[in-house]
Amino acid sequence: MRFGPPADASRFASAWSDLAGVGRDPLRGGFSRHTFDDADMQLRHWFAEQAQRRGLEVENDRNGNVWAWWGAPGPGSVVTGSHLDSVPGGGAFDGPLGVVSALLAVDELRLRGVTPARPLAIACFAEEEGGRFGLPCMGSRLMTGAVDADSVRRLHDVNAVSVADAARRVGFDPSTMGPDPARLAVIGTFVELHVEQGRLLQAADASAVVGVGSEILAHGRWRITVTGQGNHAGTTRPEDRKDPMIPAAAAVFAARRAITEYEGAVATVGRINPIPGGTNVIASTVQLWLDVRHESAVTTATIVDAIVAAVRDEAAAEDCTVMVQRESMVDKVSFDAGLGLELSELLKAPVISSGAGHDAGVLSAHVPTAMLFVRNPSGVSHAPDEYADAADCLVGIDALADVLENLVR
Ligand code: GLV
Ligand code: MN
Ligand code: MN
Repeated sequence: MRFGPPADASRFASAWSDLAGVGRDPLRGGFSRHTFDDADMQLRHWFAEQAQRRGLEVENDRNGNVWAWWGAPGPGSVVTGSHLDSVPGGGAFDGPLGVVSALLAVDELRLRGVTPARPLAIACFAEEEGGRFGLPCMGSRLMTGAVDADSVRRLHDVNAVSVADAARRVGFDPSTMGPDPARLAVIGTFVELHVEQGRLLQAADASAVVGVGSEILAHGRWRITVTGQGNHAGTTRPEDRKDPMIPAAAAVFAARRAITEYEGAVATVGRINPIPGGTNVIASTVQLWLDVRHESAVTTATIVDAIVAAVRDEAAAEDCTVMVQRESMVDKVSFDAGLGLELSELLKAPVISSGAGHDAGVLSAHVPTAMLFVRNPSGVSHAPDEYADAADCLVGIDALADVLENLVR
């Protein structure tokens, strides 16, 4: 691998320690940084301040995304960045590593004496995880017109606060949300650096610190609502029970079965909400969320159908009803092959695919897009144990600087 001089370890440590206390979740562990909440706003302010210190021009777009420009926005702009929000109880690296790396890569370019011949921007996209409002990559989808702005404004969090109200509370005008073709038109290339969220890099090349992304699996989310009859846990005879938890349990097991039945598939029930949720209460309704991913969108749909069929079978036996709502779905994404090859040659880095979704996947339908992944020894992500070695992050920052230096010429 060829890399420039190591990025300044102390600048990385300082940025990382700035973020370490923001949005800590004492109940779940890790971080809960949700779109437009206090932690998210603190991170946005931190980012704006860091960018301004570097002489970058900071602006909020109409869709809750933050941009910092080195040079006035114009055609052929090179954009890098990631997101600041997290899943509930998430790790430190998913998102922030891409943002911090982008800031430090700008420093590195300056140290190298690079004067960009085209504008360079750092973007922080809103609600990448869908952790608050349920729609992943909300900011990039809004910007690219991949989702209807009215339906987004109406999405709400667990406390029934809508996107529109949450945005208003922190000073954003939700009425202007929607496609931003002028902004999209100036982006020449987008590159997102991210912590790796599995161990494909290790499998591809045990010594590789950085990998280049090739594709993202098709993936989607479904909300399944099972309705039965709320009742007393102690007094309700077996034959009188209409317990929605039984069909809900069938979803959990069917999801696991799907992983073994469909090669390359993953299916997960990571969130379940019994209503009213009392230990001595048979729930009246159970909501659960299903996350299914596979290389093929058709197979993904087949798996969802199989899981829903298992839920309906149990629901019929338990005298419950079932409602299924698709919350999001994206087809497989292949990143720009030419750009990927160029970066993998430049960095002497292996090419790996991603089972995780990213704003880069949304942007890739519109502009040449690439991703860099920094190795994560355990492969754990979306959990407090998510980890990348600081020395590896510095290698990632240098790799990003190499890539940006090439692209801004
Ligand atoms: C986001 O990281 C996702 O893959 O769900
Ligand atoms: Mn991410
Ligand atoms: Mn994530």
